[in-house]
Amino acid sequence: MKSAALTRIEMAYVDCGSGLPVLLVHGFPLDHTMWAAQIDALSDRARVIAPDLRGFGRTPLGQVDPVHGISMEQYADELAELLDALAIREPIVLVGFSMGGYIAWQFVRKYADRLRALVQCDTRAAADTEEGREGRLKMAQHVAEWGTARVAEMMGPKLLAPHTFETKHEVVQAVRQVVEQTSPAAIAAAQRGMAARPDSTDLLSTIDVPTLVMVGEHDAISTRSEMESIAEAIRGARLAVIPDAGHMAPMENPEKVNEALSVFLDSLGG
Ligand code: MLT
Repeated sequence: MKSAALTRIEMAYVDCGSGLPVLLVHGFPLDHTMWAAQIDALSDRARVIAPDLRGFGRTPLGQVDPVHGISMEQYADELAELLDALAIREPIVLVGFSMGGYIAWQFVRKYADRLRALVQCDTRAAADTEEGREGRLKMAQHVAEWGTARVAEMMGPKLLAPHTFETKHEVVQAVRQVVEQTSPAAIAAAQRGMAARPDSTDLLSTIDVPTLVMVGEHDAISTRSEMESIAEAIRGARLAVIPDAGHMAPMENPEKVNEALSVFLDSLGG
């Protein structure tokens, strides 16, 4: 892993391969390792950049507003800063997964000119319901006393399809481990930021880059029907439903996710 000095933090990232830059943005409370299979498969044909967002994996949390946490816009600003630090001026393919997708909407809002194409994977455009927001703020408030093992217990069954949970123990273990290793302060900051994120539904009809929408068929967090609506609202977007997968489609069925990404990258030409 490498690291780049940004304004607030030193951001850790993987950067491998050459050609069209593809930026992979992980979900919550995870890190770049969720993309291991995609980094492997895509770096033969593209320049794959997979950062650890602020507070996750090897990137330190730095100073955080205790009330507001880190907004989706701030994470997006830091991705743009990372591209600057890597002197990447050409438009990129942005791949956002779940919280990475919430961040990607903000990136689209602010940095549309830096985009060649967009992939939104197992994410949502809508803001939280009141109940969802309360749940996030409760976790933010109590995670330090609960400990991250409890967060892993709470989230595990929602992140993975029942079939994955029962049969793919290495995936279950990998997800649990990364959640348990995340700092409670980073979990709290991200939960506060997600709770406050704006609704991005209005943005969808304004997106004018090639877009792929991907969803695990059994995703319990960002459901297939919700992602179908996102695909319908973005002009010309393609939809890929990943079989035998829940929310963590890139880890649960990496072959199908890689295939969908490859076909999409092919369609961009050059
Ligand atoms: C994620 O995978 O990033 C989270 O499930 C997103 C969320 O909590 O809404």
